[in-house]
Amino acid sequence: MRVLVDFPWANSEEWLAELRRQAPGVDLHQWPDVGEAGGIDAAVVWTPPRDFFRGLKNLKAIIVPGAGVDQLWRGGEALPDVPVIRLTDPLMAMRMAEYVLAMVLNHHRQLGVYRGQQARHLWARHHHPDPGDIKVGVMGLGVLGAAAVHHLSAIGYDVAGWSRRPKAIPGVRTFAGDAQFSAFLAASAILVCLLPLTDATRGILNQGTFAALADGAYVINAARGAHLIAPDLLAALEQGKLSGAALDVFEDEPLPASSLLWDHPKITVTPHIASLSNPTTGAGQIVDVLQRLERGEALGYRVDRTAGY
Ligand code: NDP
Ligand code: OXD
Repeated sequence: MRVLVDFPWANSEEWLAELRRQAPGVDLHQWPDVGEAGGIDAAVVWTPPRDFFRGLKNLKAIIVPGAGVDQLWRGGEALPDVPVIRLTDPLMAMRMAEYVLAMVLNHHRQLGVYRGQQARHLWARHHHPDPGDIKVGVMGLGVLGAAAVHHLSAIGYDVAGWSRRPKAIPGVRTFAGDAQFSAFLAASAILVCLLPLTDATRGILNQGTFAALADGAYVINAARGAHLIAPDLLAALEQGKLSGAALDVFEDEPLPASSLLWDHPKITVTPHIASLSNPTTGAGQIVDVLQRLERGEALGYRVDRTAGY
């Protein structure tokens, strides 16, 4: 089995080492060292560089070393008509759930307010509602969203979730499709975005969506930067419609130093760390896909290219 890989990250050596350790028999080629292009069986790639697929006549699968796949199309390279597989790592789901919980609790327990008070040596206590009195709406109930709603429910928040197709999750009010979007949003105090970025979800965190939330609602975006219309967020914060936001993802990453989002007192910025893919477990899943390919077995974790996720 010959595999062409391109990890764009600072820890790409770690990924390569894990792949070599877990699949010593695999002939790995690191882009742009393709070798005999017609002999490549599979490609592991985040955003294909220009001409990445040229000559890969016998390619059988594209494997994305992360959960989201929108970046596959970002470079403008046409994808060969082969199955696209993505990671669905339980460790990533756990990490995302931790991030969401951390941001929800940070807001709910007003930790930012107390940090500000500490800086002024001010001893002042503020009321905070019980979790059961706080409506949290999670957009996206896939691998990551399902873990997030599970953790939020365990703490006792009043949790609702929204997906494309109907879902039943114990203890969570579930809504599906465009027809139920308003009912899902109705008066939520905290809105969490864990949707994939598709034509249907681009810009979904916009003025209309914010208007449907409770006054003073809080928004958490840990999915993709292009879900958010940043000027709409800034306007909603200015008007007091929203009380704050936690943003982990941005249209331009790294977030440019000139971005207004960095210095906004009501915005928490994190550098796309909500759920970093893990080289050990990630490589394990990639190796599983390669072995299935070799044995001619059905591939799991397949992306629906029409739906875009
Ligand atoms: P999944 O594909 O498992 O789940 C996606 C969910 O979104 C599904 O519940 C799906 O509905 C729902 N959905 C998709 N389109 C729509 C729509 N038009 N209307 C309503 N619901 C919709 O994705 P994951 O949970 O694995 O990941 C989600 C995203 O998180 C990734 O695509 C990626 O962008 C982002 N991410 C961010 C990370 C970070 O560190 N910040 C790390 C990893 C991922 P249905 O169930 O009906 O299909
Ligand atoms: C992913 C990500 O999609 O890290 O895996 O954002």
